[in-house]
Amino acid sequence: MSIVVAVVGATGVVGREMASILAERQPAGMTTVVALASERSSGSQIPFGNDTLTVSTLDDSSFDGVDYALFSAGGAIAAQYAPVAASKGCVVIDNSSYFRLDPSVPLVVPEVNPDAVHAHTGIIANPNCSTAQLVVVLNPLLKAAGLKRVSVATYQSVSGAGKSALQELESQSRSNLNGVTQEPSVFSHPIAFNLIPQIDSFLDNGYTKEEMKVTNETRKILGCPTLPVAATAVRVPVFISHSEAVSIQTDQPISVTEARRVLELAPGVVVMDDPSQQVYPTPRALSGKDEVAVGRIRVDLSQENGLCFWCVGDNLRKGAALNAVQILELLLANRHR
Ligand SMILES: NC(=O)c1ccc[n+]([C@@H]2O[C@H](COP(=O)([O-])OP(=O)(O)OC[C@H]3O[C@@H](n4cnc5c(N)ncnc54)[C@H](OP(=O)(O)O)[C@@H]3O)[C@@H](O)[C@H]2O)c1
Repeated sequence: MSIVVAVVGATGVVGREMASILAERQPAGMTTVVALASERSSGSQIPFGNDTLTVSTLDDSSFDGVDYALFSAGGAIAAQYAPVAASKGCVVIDNSSYFRLDPSVPLVVPEVNPDAVHAHTGIIANPNCSTAQLVVVLNPLLKAAGLKRVSVATYQSVSGAGKSALQELESQSRSNLNGVTQEPSVFSHPIAFNLIPQIDSFLDNGYTKEEMKVTNETRKILGCPTLPVAATAVRVPVFISHSEAVSIQTDQPISVTEARRVLELAPGVVVMDDPSQQVYPTPRALSGKDEVAVGRIRVDLSQENGLCFWCVGDNLRKGAALNAVQILELLLANRHR
């Protein structure tokens, strides 16, 4: 069997990570990887393990002979090309928000709802980066004690906004240190030495689209359609990895010791929690890692059956590319049965 996988948006920060993870994990049966991006990038090379891939221009014929396509080129490209790919028998795993809340499209985090992939009709959605790392930690606690409510504040790195955002933080930081002010272009305020409590645009309810993505996607993936979730999403001057301060209320009481034990056994989670030794997850420590790390697990003093914790994950890996490749691996495993 020879399986052809396309990466759409291969020159972006997520697309490059997808190519790197495909080269690293070599999903069973995958023989060829095709790199696709805009006409601007045609002919350029991206790393693929010790090799390189030459980038071709995305068009309607790009999916001829392609079995699976990992999309990370934004909602407009997904809206235009995912149906084209699916109509040619290619299964799409899309990173944009375009299909995520479509009831006919599974939204999948393999550690949480792997069986949801079976319901696909050609398109599967990958969640928002903050949602992916959150549900990996929430799901074991949900199973152990039930969930009554979730409150989360995110500290999101600039790579979550793509390659131009990485460049903006770097050049703005250098300019600021040299005493030169640089006008922001990607973000609405300076990001160097700053925090911006706005990710994506504002909605009528006072939340941003990013915050409502966390709320609605968490509910869909956990299968808890009415779970109260309140999010505050903040952009921070960190290059890679998102952090989250989370407070939950459970249905049944759960001690800190039991929560730690449950999380230690959970797939995709690593517990880094030893306050006496200053052990807790940080974005720098988690960059390049596959797991979501959780620490600062403690009783929430403000509510009954309350628990607080801090979790950190690499937004380009578990928050995007790794999750997409894990979905591909699930599909390939089912194909082999
Ligand atoms: N960054 C994250 O942490 C993260 C996490 C979850 C989901 N996502 C989602 O993943 C997607 C990509 O994000 P990113 O951060 O990787 O962005 P990025 O670094 O800005 O990359 C965008 C990619 O899209 C390609 N593209 C743009 N216009 C195109 C066109 N007309 N035809 C074909 N390709 C085109 C670009 O190709 P060129 O280089 O040729 O312009 C580039 O490869 C977005 O939907 C984002 O919401 C990102």
